[in-house]
Amino acid sequence: MPNSPAEPARRIKVQRRGPLLVEGPVEVELEDGSTVRSDRFRVALCTCRRSRRFPWCDTSHRDRTQSRRTTDTD
Ligand code: FES
Repeated sequence: MPNSPAEPARRIKVQRRGPLLVEGPVEVELEDGSTVRSDRFRVALCTCRRSRRFPWCDTSHRDRTQSRRTTDTD
């Protein structure tokens, strides 16, 4: 990705509990040297390592709570 002073700085939003939100497109180099790319407008990068789609966030960082659903048996 070329770097020039004319390009606006890429914005990254940091959240206390959650992914890093990066303005896309992005290319991420993984630990094994491979790269993955996303062309989305905004990309959520996993910081908790629980994502099954790492390095992309799949919302696995959220607390799991069982919601009770009522069933309509009438
Ligand atoms: S930050 Fe969302 S799954 Fe890891």
